[in-house]
Amino acid sequence: FRDPQKARDYLKGSVFPIVIKADGEAAGKGVVVAQDYAEADAAIHRMMEKRVFGASGETVVIEECLFGQEISVMAFVDGETVVPMVGVQDHKRIGEGDTGSNTGGMGAYAPVPIATPELVEDIKVRILQPAVHAVRETGIPYRGILYAGVMVTASGPYCMEFNARFGDPETQVVLPLLETDLADILNAAVDVELDRLPVTFSERAAVCVVLSSAGYPETSDNGRVITGLESAEKLDAVAVFHAGTASDDAGRIITAGGRVLGVTATGEDFREARERCYAAVSRISFQGAYYRRDIGHHALSVAG
Ligand code: GLY
Repeated sequence: FRDPQKARDYLKGSVFPIVIKADGEAAGKGVVVAQDYAEADAAIHRMMEKRVFGASGETVVIEECLFGQEISVMAFVDGETVVPMVGVQDHKRIGEGDTGSNTGGMGAYAPVPIATPELVEDIKVRILQPAVHAVRETGIPYRGILYAGVMVTASGPYCMEFNARFGDPETQVVLPLLETDLADILNAAVDVELDRLPVTFSERAAVCVVLSSAGYPETSDNGRVITGLESAEKLDAVAVFHAGTASDDAGRIITAGGRVLGVTATGEDFREARERCYAAVSRISFQGAYYRRDIGHHALSVAG
């Protein structure tokens, strides 16, 4: 819809919950799952009239709400061949138990129990390949990373979005599991030779927990000194990825954004990776630091 009144008229006859999306870039925050008309009306006002996402709110897309678990399947693409990476689960909501505002992602883990090799193959054949082939038909083949955000429902996988980039924090768990040299893969993508390169992932597990600054996702609290980074990185199989950080005049690392750090650990299995990851997170501190303590909760319930 381009007209807020027409959007409201449509919503008055709709079944709730319903999904309202700003039709453009919104830093991962342009989606509202409205539980009733009042919430939908408020979303239309913020996006289309208040323009909190700028021009991205000129048009909104209203979609049926899908129920299931969401996974991210990223793929290396050379314009023809699609090589999916291991499926990942991001945690989009700010609060534990998947509650509160949507964020860019508060943590991720892989492998994901529901993202079986059969499901990833199905997503490749029914979602990723048709998209890549359709783009090729336009005469401008896409080479790079294609990211599908997929809802796995009782009636199969549905694609909710594509990104022409790596996911964040998905990448922080996928690349540590990649055994093939990334440069070789990217060169093969450029040379349209991905069909000739075996790409393998390790059988290990990886977990990433995002530390955010106070106020995220609405605001961020910058300039807070971060301590414990070296101590966290000394732990076995741990890597600390910087996102919203900077250094001050004294050379100290400080917060400079909403999502500040992505702390990743790998392990023989999900439990080992998760334990290591939270051990590393507990060594890092800054005023107002926040992180979810339930990253991988779907896998935990499967692991028992
Ligand atoms: N984590 C979601 C994204 O990268 O779009």
